[in-house]
Amino acid sequence: SKLVKDAEGATAQYHAGESTLDTAAWLSERVRSALVEAYGPEYADADPMLVPASRPEFGDYQCNVAMPLGKSLKSKPRDIAENIVARLRLEDVCEPIEIAGPGFLNIKLRMPFMQEQLRRMIADEARCAVPLAVPTQRVIVDYSSPNIAKEMHVGHLRSTIIGDSLSKVLEFRGHSVLRLNHVGDWGTQFGMLILHLKDKAPGALAGTDELDISDLVTFYKEAKVRFDADAEFQTSARAEVVKLQAGAEDSLKAWRMLCTQSEKAFNEVYGLLGVDKRLETRGESFYNPRLGRVIETLREASLLRESEGAQCVFLDGYVNREGEPQPMIVQKSDGGFMYSTTDLAALAHRVGDERAERILYVTDAGQSQHFEQVFAIGRLASIVPSTVSLEHVPFGLVLGEDGKKFKTRSGETVKLMDLLSEAVRRAHTDLSSRITAEGRTEDADFVELVSRTVGIGAVKYADLAMNRNSNYRFEYDKMLALNGNTAPFMLYAYARIRGIQRRAAEKLGAGALDTARLQASEIMLDAPAELALARHLLKLADVVREVESELLPSKLCEYIFELSGKFNQFYESCPVMQAESAQLQRSRLALCGLSASVLKTSLGLLGIDTLERL
Ligand code: ARG
Repeated sequence: SKLVKDAEGATAQYHAGESTLDTAAWLSERVRSALVEAYGPEYADADPMLVPASRPEFGDYQCNVAMPLGKSLKSKPRDIAENIVARLRLEDVCEPIEIAGPGFLNIKLRMPFMQEQLRRMIADEARCAVPLAVPTQRVIVDYSSPNIAKEMHVGHLRSTIIGDSLSKVLEFRGHSVLRLNHVGDWGTQFGMLILHLKDKAPGALAGTDELDISDLVTFYKEAKVRFDADAEFQTSARAEVVKLQAGAEDSLKAWRMLCTQSEKAFNEVYGLLGVDKRLETRGESFYNPRLGRVIETLREASLLRESEGAQCVFLDGYVNREGEPQPMIVQKSDGGFMYSTTDLAALAHRVGDERAERILYVTDAGQSQHFEQVFAIGRLASIVPSTVSLEHVPFGLVLGEDGKKFKTRSGETVKLMDLLSEAVRRAHTDLSSRITAEGRTEDADFVELVSRTVGIGAVKYADLAMNRNSNYRFEYDKMLALNGNTAPFMLYAYARIRGIQRRAAEKLGAGALDTARLQASEIMLDAPAELALARHLLKLADVVREVESELLPSKLCEYIFELSGKFNQFYESCPVMQAESAQLQRSRLALCGLSASVLKTSLGLLGIDTLERL
């Protein structure tokens, strides 16, 4: 192929398989090489400032690097821009580069290049030729992570939805992903829970009765009431914790029963959400045998200091309201360990035993400082080498329709099963009335499948479409709306294209769609709407890559929302069945097919199933 001229890096990868060029990344690399050639190796890590063009008439990409360099290089940005352009060899990919205004580079992709890229995408239905990362990494995604015997709340729902989607994106890029559910299954609260269980269900513990505490949350509350009211119960509960930690068989048995019971409830939610089955429960208890070692490591690194009987690590810059240094406590005066100690032990295990190269923690933004400190201590104590990337992936709160904390009318925490079932129920009502209005007959299985896909998809999409850092309101009407940036809208957009394809296959014979796919090399982009759609389709690889690095699934939602708009414009102005020639018809059918594949792939990465019709 023509591009072989430039035989290094991304280009080599581009030719290795039938994947598309990761255009933005590839161009960035080219600009960087030009900078190095022109101004020396100190620019090897410079940010090439390559962004999508702000207006279509400027082309596809814009490079703004000359502006900030003006100062440090003491020359006019326009001269710098010219120096860069003179060293950019992109003839096969771009039109001659224009220098605009004070020194912006306008980059416009060449038609044959775009056609070739589209051909590759069309030929690869499953992944639309999105390239694999080079090199791939071992990534751990720590997500969901609810607490035993407590209600799984909307924060855990967000973590589950975001974590599941990010895992899919990373895996799609070829990384080896380990999904870990860091369940809160250890700690002092188990003393009172076990004690309460021994009183309430001795038969179950003896193995003579079935355990019947369907409502573990009420059970937790009962235990807590006793704990708060009864000093004797408190003392026994503390003794029970010590027994559990020492590994007493009867305590462990009670503990396991409680965990199993909770996990049943969690699994119900995961099942309905369709969470990846490989999400592995590896709770806090797993790291219990490793906590002592953490303290030793910290001591060896001279990071430990005793303060009021507790073992602490003081980091610069952390102070309490009074301005006094605020340490991270790793062991209490009674010898008990902390949430942070467990996270340090988990770090050691994940880096050492699991060989992770990138670790993501998907939790609410309230835990940012916790992770900041854990990461800093992990580095200082050499538990984590600098080659391993640690990233907290924070998210905002879920609010009620009134903009306040999400609660039921009576002020209780909303049960996730109820919340999800309600979404499905509403989707069911909408669908049924539409079916009646349209005079259709549909069997019960179809109605059930569609309601579930739309209802659950709506909840997931509403969460993912917002920048995860902001709070969002949980509003059924909005998330289930057929118009707007919602799951139902996207699912309809997909089903509509599939409908177009079905009608084409009926008229032209089933092979017509295959022919369109195989002969896509003749893709024609004369109409402005065709070209606009094609340009957008070509950005898929850039977007996936962006999500991979910035961990913002909302970018993918934005992308497909825009895609459906561009598709509609294309479909309104470019007749498919009535196309002027067979070749043009094939080309347009191929664009329809690719639009459907890109939608399906993207929704899949968001954890949302598509439907052939609704
Ligand atoms: N169980 C915690 C919670 O409910 C979340 C755990 C997050 N993961 C971690 N490694 N600390 O807030």
